[in-house]
Amino acid sequence: MNVAILYFSGTGGTAKVASDLAAGFHAEGCQVELFRLKRGLQFDLSNFDLFAVGSPAYSFRIPRLVSRLLRRLNFHQKPFFVFCTSGGMPGNALWNLYWVVKRTAGVCLGGLSIFAMTNLRSWMPKEGDSAASLWRITDHDTRIARATGKVILERLQQWQTAPSKKLRNNWKPTPSLWTILWSALFTWRWMMAATAGIKRIDKNRCNKCSLCATTICPSGAISISDDGWPKFNECKCVGCNGCLNLCPQDAIWSFISRHHQQYDLYKQFILKK
Ligand SMILES: Cc1cc2nc3c(=O)[nH]c(=O)nc-3n(C[C@H](O)[C@H](O)[C@H](O)COP(=O)(O)O)c2cc1C
Ligand code: SF4
Ligand code: SF4
Repeated sequence: MNVAILYFSGTGGTAKVASDLAAGFHAEGCQVELFRLKRGLQFDLSNFDLFAVGSPAYSFRIPRLVSRLLRRLNFHQKPFFVFCTSGGMPGNALWNLYWVVKRTAGVCLGGLSIFAMTNLRSWMPKEGDSAASLWRITDHDTRIARATGKVILERLQQWQTAPSKKLRNNWKPTPSLWTILWSALFTWRWMMAATAGIKRIDKNRCNKCSLCATTICPSGAISISDDGWPKFNECKCVGCNGCLNLCPQDAIWSFISRHHQQYDLYKQFILKK
């Protein structure tokens, strides 16, 4: 069985969960391919039998960029399941994923939500604090993600042997109205430009390596100007904090993530290419 795992990740948390899911499917004998969603990338998904689609929750929903990118893909009426990471309040994230993928996919086999605040540094404990580990993706979460492959394959087999309306409706996240209203307010471009999008470059630190623009930014919000300095389009920024966590020079400042540290997850799971 060919499994495609598509995910959006700013700082590597969701990428790690995607990688754990992949390990679980591998262990069950599946071929697995991972795709990190990023503006401008198109994927041919016609050769896959099963899809896993994941995203972090931002303001109680998936980032608008993610819905836009997913809407352009064709899931060829194949079975799928959805997963998200969040700081504990995913809101409608699984529901958003479900609806956007379901448009072109087949039966939904389930949803997985992992709690771990991996990218908002302003109010989470700093690296080194004992409390910091509570905010991480734990070994327990890793085990859950790895075990998911088996569960999903069992559900798929059940569906294939006895496809029924009952199973089709077996797993369906329910939306919450107040989170829709809340996220509607806080995730539009003008709001991002006024909050999470705000970035500054410390020109004494930046060495113009251009990694932030070329490798990490999923939304195309960073360009390199003629003189080599990175330039931010704060309206395009989705606030994922990838750039400032990635920057090898620690040269990027963000309004909502001031105490950031160099972080292992993105190096392991995003920068591996
Ligand atoms: C702009 C922004 C908004 C967020 N909003 C929420 C939220 O509403 N609820 C929540 O539980 N976590 C929220 N988070 C935390 C992320 O969902 C969490 O850190 C996630 O693991 C990040 O995944 P990543 O490392 O793959 O980017 C938010 C993070 C950011 C950057
Ligand atoms: S990654 Fe950091 S050092 Fe490299 S260009 Fe971007 S801001 Fe400058
Ligand atoms: S500018 Fe930075 S925080 Fe904004 S979307 Fe790009 S990588 Fe993420």
